[in-house]
Amino acid sequence: MRKNRFVSSSDYRIMILDDEMGIIDSLSVILRRQGYEIEGYTDPMSAIEKLSMEHYDLLILDYFMSPIHGDKVVERIREFNSDLYILLLTGHKDMAPPLKTIKMLEIQGYCEKSDRFEQLLLLVESAIKSVSQSRRIRKFNDGLNSILNTVARIYQIQPYEKIAEEIILNILPIVNGRNGFIIVNDILKAADGSEIFIGTGKFQTSMKDPAEILNSRFTEQIRQIWASKQILRLDAGILFPLITESMQAIGVLYIECEDMEDSMKLLKIYVHQAASALNNAFLHTILNIKNEELSNTYDQLKVRYIDTIEALRLAVDAKDIYTRGHSDRVAYFAVRIGRIFNLTEKDLEVLRVCGIFHDIGKIGISDKILLKTEKLTDIEFEEIKKHPLKGAYILSAISIFKEIALIVKSHHERIDGTGYPEGLKGGDIPFLSRILAVADAFDAMMSDRTYRSRLSLKEVKNQLVKGAGTQFDSNIVEKFIVLIEDYDQMARELADSGL
Ligand SMILES: [Fe+2]
Repeated sequence: MRKNRFVSSSDYRIMILDDEMGIIDSLSVILRRQGYEIEGYTDPMSAIEKLSMEHYDLLILDYFMSPIHGDKVVERIREFNSDLYILLLTGHKDMAPPLKTIKMLEIQGYCEKSDRFEQLLLLVESAIKSVSQSRRIRKFNDGLNSILNTVARIYQIQPYEKIAEEIILNILPIVNGRNGFIIVNDILKAADGSEIFIGTGKFQTSMKDPAEILNSRFTEQIRQIWASKQILRLDAGILFPLITESMQAIGVLYIECEDMEDSMKLLKIYVHQAASALNNAFLHTILNIKNEELSNTYDQLKVRYIDTIEALRLAVDAKDIYTRGHSDRVAYFAVRIGRIFNLTEKDLEVLRVCGIFHDIGKIGISDKILLKTEKLTDIEFEEIKKHPLKGAYILSAISIFKEIALIVKSHHERIDGTGYPEGLKGGDIPFLSRILAVADAFDAMMSDRTYRSRLSLKEVKNQLVKGAGTQFDSNIVEKFIVLIEDYDQMARELADSGL
């Protein structure tokens, strides 16, 4: 059965201020009989002080008083309280304050003193109704503000179990409730129909299965509203389905509160927002799971691709005994140069991978040309010159190597524009390719080849300096020459790594 909303008179505090104690006594008797809580004062100054410290809903005051009249009392009260409902008692109507004063001081009503109090009683009743309305409006506004603040915060919370908890904990104070619970689908275990139950007040439980604290009839009602997506009013509280924008029920919320009629509007607004926040978190969670799956697949693909390329690289190195270890050393020198230029860790990693794979395109060059000890013919040399492009093609097959492919493609370009494959000049050549070119040339000259023996460190330095500004970036050469002052240490590090 639905309960009627009932507001008790004792919920309201009334003050009577009159310098005649007799008036206070008779008024108090009549009003207390109606259930009102009354306090009487004969001294305006102490009444003002009391009103400034405590909350009253209505002030009934006399107009003619000493040391100050009622209008002056109101003037002082209005300095700190503009909301207090005030009824003014006047003597004869000719002695009432001018209407202008009543309006200005926002005195809500006045009546003549008489032995019969019917008129005053009517005014008091109407004042209390008005105060009650204001309270409801204020409560609603306060509730709306709380909801706005709460919802904004809930949207930022993750994971959704925590959101569910916040939803139930935040709504109760807004509607003066103590008992409630929320049940939502457990998205991570949706397949097996798992649900999350969070209760508070008498529904607080450490038990995982809500059926253990909810009786079977209640459980049945919960299932019904979940399926029908309709709000259900019960004797003690209200069951709300949590419905998403796409009209999917993702859970239920149950609240027990005072003034269910008054709280209904707030609850509807809150539940709507709560369902959106939850759904938002659901989608995020699903997206994260999918992203993680995708990322795992991507990582596996990457690993497999790198394994394949690594195998191919070893095949290239195996094809040419003289170049064995070359790629790793180029990677090492390129990263060392990169550090001098304070490159980011990401760029250093790019340089390292570029070093390892810079000659990967040689896979596509026949052994006959690659291992030839005599001077290459023009046609053969043209074939060799294809390896940067072939390498870039192999590497660009996977998106993460797109950047690496571009650097590898240009590692035989020259500053003066006479390099290959595109004849790029100066700054048009990617900076990392320019670093790679110096590291590559250095290690090549420091190694024995089928057609020549390794050069001395001094000779290699001379060659690099000679090529600065034509073959190589002179700034990089300049820095590299300083770096290889410490070549012995570098050689030891390389030897320690088995290179
Ligand atoms: Fe090369």
